[in-house]
Amino acid sequence: MKIQILPSLLAADFGRLADEARRAEDAGGDALHLDIMDGVFVPNISMGPAVVEMARRAVKIPLSVHLMLIRPDRYLKNFIEAGADSLMIHIESECNVCEALREIRELGGRPGITINPETSEELILPVLSEVDEVLCMTVRPGYGGQAFMPEVLPKIRSVRNHAGGLNLRDLDILVDGGIDPATAPRCAAQGANVFVAGTSLYGARDMGGEIALMREKAAAAFSA
Ligand code: DX5
Ligand code: ZN
Repeated sequence: MKIQILPSLLAADFGRLADEARRAEDAGGDALHLDIMDGVFVPNISMGPAVVEMARRAVKIPLSVHLMLIRPDRYLKNFIEAGADSLMIHIESECNVCEALREIRELGGRPGITINPETSEELILPVLSEVDEVLCMTVRPGYGGQAFMPEVLPKIRSVRNHAGGLNLRDLDILVDGGIDPATAPRCAAQGANVFVAGTSLYGARDMGGEIALMREKAAAAFSA
């Protein structure tokens, strides 16, 4: 499986977001991750479609858009039109998740389902064949810079095994929260192949070197 490293713009300098988006691309990021928060689903408020549009103009790499919204179904078209490539919604959001995932695909996006650390992976099994990506949160969503939660590791293995059982060999499993060159390989060993990282990458002196190191360590540890 292709190992991918996704810098998360949440940890960038908001005074120069376009430059920061380009910095992630130049450093070898496979896609740019954008965190959308509504202040209801999570306590924080971050960015909206205008920032996705800005990123679309700034970089050529795909845009991975993580919707931490109580009603993501109301905004799918806005984010696709703004330039999102993959749209990840939460299983805990208050909408018809299956319908929303199908709508993302109809709109031309890559649908993804996200689960919080406390949520059982059993809840996403009914929609596993509807999605291209499963995002396992490795912190409680809402803020960057939190500590990685190792208790999520068995859930990643369980999702990868269920995907294998359903013959979903190409399913991307993402991890997000507290990901760095030490935690990424621990997730890769459980079957994660896409790594979202904010603080560790934007805070690194050499983002390119940090991405290369994370990629190398994750690739060596990956187990399907
Ligand atoms: C948290 C966001 C993450 C965040 C990760 O709710 O979903 O994408 O940017 O930040 P770090 O890598 O700093 O934990
Ligand atoms: Zn995220």
